[in-house]
Amino acid sequence: MSRLLFIEANDSTHQSKGISSQMNETFLSSYRTHHPEDEIVVLNLFEERLPFFDLKLATSAAKLFWGESLDAEESVPVEKLQEYLTGFLDSDKIVFSFPMWNLTVPAPLHNYMDYLAQAGQTFRYTSEGSVGLVTGKHVLLLHSRGGDYSTPDKVSSDHAVRYMIDILRFFGIEDVESVILEGHQQYPDRADELIKNALSACEKAGQRF
Ligand SMILES: Cc1cc2nc3c(=O)[nH]c(=O)nc-3n(C[C@H](O)[C@H](O)[C@H](O)COP(=O)(O)O)c2cc1C
Repeated sequence: MSRLLFIEANDSTHQSKGISSQMNETFLSSYRTHHPEDEIVVLNLFEERLPFFDLKLATSAAKLFWGESLDAEESVPVEKLQEYLTGFLDSDKIVFSFPMWNLTVPAPLHNYMDYLAQAGQTFRYTSEGSVGLVTGKHVLLLHSRGGDYSTPDKVSSDHAVRYMIDILRFFGIEDVESVILEGHQQYPDRADELIKNALSACEKAGQRF
């Protein structure tokens, strides 16, 4: 039995019928059918509303890691951080579902990745640079964006998927696959076909992931 952590960074609180929700439902329904024995944990980052990651939290997390004592004001947020980190590290498979917002990932997802980026736990510093410490995880990115960023003139403007691949690699995770729906708003006449293909790819991903 595997543990799948499904991290949603789509604002489904305010928009239940978005295309990301359709991609999520298609993937999850297929995954449940093909992996009935697996545990699935859904983490909705827009609902979680994690406090903003700041230097105080970073310092408290480092103190906890080095076994230093924390006062009451420090320990509550840092225990929450550790809870999210443990939830991530205890999972075998992880799905990140996120749209592109202003060329990058929505802020709650960036904030969550900052929670995970703890020296000594997901990476460590060496004289040759940083080394990732997370091994043995499969990651799937489910991503949608209205524009088309696959063309040579636009590819460098994608700070969403490229950021996720880079930060996961920083943690040591190389096994990253993706399903990307793009261009459905830029090319309205092709939207139905693009969405149909993306949903089909989500269905297949749920089967083999
Ligand atoms: C706040 C906001 C910012 C967006 N920024 C971009 C963008 O930079 N590039 C792009 O191609 N689409 C952008 N979009 C469009 C979404 O990425 C697109 O609609 C995506 O499919 C969202 O899926 P949803 O229907 O689940 O919300 C933006 C949408 C919102 C709401």
